[in-house]
Amino acid sequence: MARKNIVVFTGAGVSADSGIATFRDADGLWANYKIEEVCTPEALKNNRAKVIEFYNMRRRESLSKQPNEGHIAIAKMEEWAEVIVITQNVDNLHERAGSKNVLHLHGELMKLRSERDSNLIYDIEDGWEQSLDARAEDGALLRPHIVFFGESVPMFDPACRIVQDADVLIVVGTSLAVYPAAMLVRYAKSGVPIYVVDPGNPDTSIIRNNPLTHIKARAAEGMPELVERLKAEMK
Ligand code: APR
Repeated sequence: MARKNIVVFTGAGVSADSGIATFRDADGLWANYKIEEVCTPEALKNNRAKVIEFYNMRRRESLSKQPNEGHIAIAKMEEWAEVIVITQNVDNLHERAGSKNVLHLHGELMKLRSERDSNLIYDIEDGWEQSLDARAEDGALLRPHIVFFGESVPMFDPACRIVQDADVLIVVGTSLAVYPAAMLVRYAKSGVPIYVVDPGNPDTSIIRNNPLTHIKARAAEGMPELVERLKAEMK
């Protein structure tokens, strides 16, 4: 039988079991920081030190964490299916769990880019700290390679095309509250099954033309179970 295309769309919840805080849960990041002070182009312009420090802390934290059973179950599906991960997360825990095809919708913590030329992107090879005055080769200051609120999401269109080809869509640990990202679930062909793995109540009202199964469990519990079930059905 031909291998199926499984698309996994993830949010902060998939990394919660690794000990990284989500954004909108009670203990989430946005309960402790104001978005407009750390995650907008205006903040970068007017309060650069605070923004850089915020992402330095996120980077330091993510380097100290390990992929959990949820990330690992997603990566293991590659043994028997074509899997593409579309993540809103800026950590690299999917890659570290072994996922080969990962598209980051909202950027990546381990990259910096020129403030002037968005094509000049650099991997951070060592450590977690971006110094305030680090510059790109075009002479412009470097900034975190992160999509701030109010900025366009260049990877959205490629992500839509990937979802359109899915035979199964799995949505893990996202409140589906942030657009355009949440809109992705609408690009699944009608009838394609959508599984939502989330212990909370993401806004699934946006899913209309697809059979929906909400597995109300943490990623580290719900993902391995779902993967076993899909594997038995598809192999
Ligand atoms: N396993 C799975 N899901 C979990 C877990 C867990 N252990 N713990 C919490 N969740 C769920 C919550 O129930 C919620 O639905 O994860 C979701 C987290 O939602 P948000 O905090 O809104 O995170 P996310 O959807 O990824 O946010 C989207 O918002 O601020 C921006 O750019 C940031 O990419 C982020 C975007």
